[in-house]
Amino acid sequence: MKQIQIFDTTLRDGEQVPGCKLDRDQKLRLAERLEELGVDVIEAGFPISSPGDFAAVQEIGKLVKNATVCGLSRAVKEDIKVAGEALASAKRPRIHTGLGTSDSHIFDKLRTTREKVIERAVGAVRYAKTFVEDVEFYAEDAGRTENAYLAQVIQAVVDAGATVLNIPDTTGYCLPEEFGAKIKYLTEHVVGIDKCTISVHCHNDLGLATANSIAGVQNGATQIECTMNGIGERAGNCSLEEVAMILKHRLGDQFSTGINSRLLNPISREVSMEMGMSVQANKAIVGDNAFAHSSGIHQDGVIKARDTYEIIDPREVGVDKSLIVLTARSGRAALAYRFKELGINLTKRELDAAYKIFLEVADSKKSVEDEDLKVIWKGMAVAVA
Ligand code: KIV
Ligand code: ZN
Repeated sequence: MKQIQIFDTTLRDGEQVPGCKLDRDQKLRLAERLEELGVDVIEAGFPISSPGDFAAVQEIGKLVKNATVCGLSRAVKEDIKVAGEALASAKRPRIHTGLGTSDSHIFDKLRTTREKVIERAVGAVRYAKTFVEDVEFYAEDAGRTENAYLAQVIQAVVDAGATVLNIPDTTGYCLPEEFGAKIKYLTEHVVGIDKCTISVHCHNDLGLATANSIAGVQNGATQIECTMNGIGERAGNCSLEEVAMILKHRLGDQFSTGINSRLLNPISREVSMEMGMSVQANKAIVGDNAFAHSSGIHQDGVIKARDTYEIIDPREVGVDKSLIVLTARSGRAALAYRFKELGINLTKRELDAAYKIFLEVADSKKSVEDEDLKVIWKGMAVAVA
């Protein structure tokens, strides 16, 4: 059984999303909850970016007891120094430093050469090591970096003392097979990589962040970088709740994590509330509809046996129960079930009569609520009298 480290970057990659900015107290509250959730690493912020973020990283470093606290920096001396200062009181500090390695980053953004990028990478890691022992190097846009050159960069930073090697698919470009092969290639071509943690940091531009992260661990990565609700730059990052449940439910015989899955739903809601960023209703694991059933065919199945249409028990992720939502597509079984929840056990004749009225009501609105059911029941009682 391989233990997969969960590196949460909700407070850094997630927080840099327009509209999601958190103040220091909000960051502290969420850091505490992320630690309770069981993440191994909390990326608390980008200390040089603002005095507020510096203070947040510093305070989180003091507050967090078990998780590693990480601060981001570019491969720039001043960034690294400020990150080192912000993390000075953390119990388990980590500096996360790096730069772009794809041709697009090297030639268009950084306007430099491949050789100079390696020199800068090595210099950044060596300098970060003067502040902390635990240094994570990111090869930005590794997803679009040619494997042979990526292996050269990674070899150089391993030799310089990097402890964690982050292979980001920054633009969400890779297909799962391709990304898995990239991780495997590195494990086979970098000497000493087995002494380091290989990390994957996948973005969701093509909706493949979760699939790519899983392909990464299936090919040798032992850390996944992710965010609650999948928030992050553009289409977001890999979702913490998704990888945690995939590893637990589908790959539990090979991998484990420290995540307490019962806290996934409550913490998803807290993140959404603090950031003012709603979660799409059909979001896997934490969306409002993740355990809701509305069509008659599905409702009939779930009422008879929950697992006909649910692969996860909602309580396992902190949701009280599955929902039977009444709409014009619902059947008699669902209507009887919802009346029963209100303490009303309908006979077959009563159910037939109620269903007729229900369909009229349901056709006129999006969903039929308990209040509507009470009115239907009252109307039936009056008709009988
Ligand atoms: O997406 C990315 O490449 C990043 C790095 C800074 C790790 O967020
Ligand atoms: Zn990112």
